[in-house]
Amino acid sequence: MKRLFVTLAVVALAGGWLLTAQATAADPELVGAPKCKTCHKAKTGDQWGIWETSAHAKAYETLASDEAKKIATEKGLGDPQQAAECLACHVTKAFLGGEVKVSAKGKYVDTEGIGCEACHGPGSAYKSKKIMVDSEAAKAAGLQIVKGAEFCQQCHNDKSPTFKAFDYEKRWAEIAHAVPEKE
Ligand code: HEC
Ligand code: HEC
Ligand code: HEC
Ligand code: HEC
Repeated sequence: MKRLFVTLAVVALAGGWLLTAQATAADPELVGAPKCKTCHKAKTGDQWGIWETSAHAKAYETLASDEAKKIATEKGLGDPQQAAECLACHVTKAFLGGEVKVSAKGKYVDTEGIGCEACHGPGSAYKSKKIMVDSEAAKAAGLQIVKGAEFCQQCHNDKSPTFKAFDYEKRWAEIAHAVPEKE
């Protein structure tokens, strides 16, 4: 771990393009939302609780509903929980695309729906406490801090068969999970 940290620091000094190369070479893997739960609980803003009770955590389950089956049938697809066309916006791994790998030491399963890593990037390289507390090191290890409506609209758009107009301010307020300011 120390070595990775030193490598990242050296690479950061060496310049931007190297930093990118390092991040790619490290190939961060999916560890699954339960791995983030350990630290992101009630004391620090309850990111876990907010996510777990959100629609995103149910996005895979939703594909088993009668409504989902009806939509899939109309499109000539089989089981929506098996259909790539639906999974692309309803499951973390499918959303991130074919390249991304699942860590053997993690807890990732497709049933998590849209988990933390769909929005924050695969976590194997940034999830250790030492890296997490250092914002720059975490980003170099693959952590994504996404902002703004455009990120959400990769899924919240009219390609969704059930699309509802997307009001960023309003929707973000429903899932906001800030870390409280320290005193
Ligand atoms: C070992 C504990 C630990 C684990 C596991 C962990 N985190 Fe963190 N994370 C932290 C700490 C500590 C911070 C710093 C928070 C603060 O500023 O108080 C943090 C910060 C963050 C931030 C904000 C970073 C910034 O620079 O603003 C994000 C986003 C985040 N974590 C996402 C995740 C995700 C997603 C996972 C699972 C893949 C995860 N974390 C797993 C401890 C952890
Ligand atoms: C990877 C795809 C994806 C991304 C990116 C995404 N969402 Fe979603 N979101 C979904 C899916 C799928 C559902 C419906 C889940 C269900 O009902 O089972 C959903 C549902 C929601 C809901 C519940 C209300 C509703 O319309 O059903 C809110 C609120 C929401 N998203 C906010 C956001 C915000 C804010 C962002 C950006 C920060 C975002 N989402 C990014 C896929 C995504
Ligand atoms: C472009 C991304 C995207 C694709 C592709 C997609 N969905 Fe969704 N789905 C969403 C989002 C975002 C929501 C939240 C509601 C909305 O559309 O605003 C959602 C919600 C749903 C819901 C819940 C509806 C509700 O009123 O809460 C069902 C059912 C559903 N999708 C089924 C499917 C099926 C079946 C497929 C494949 C044929 C599919 N979706 C493909 C993004 C997508
Ligand atoms: C639908 C996308 C989405 C999902 C799912 C999601 N986040 Fe976030 N998260 C965001 C966005 C967007 C921000 C930053 C907003 C900003 O800074 O304006 C954020 C910010 C954070 C922060 C930093 C808060 C701060 O105040 O600095 C932490 C920590 C975090 N997320 C952890 C998690 C964890 C842990 C999970 C899963 C349990 C998770 N997130 C799931 C989109 C998401």
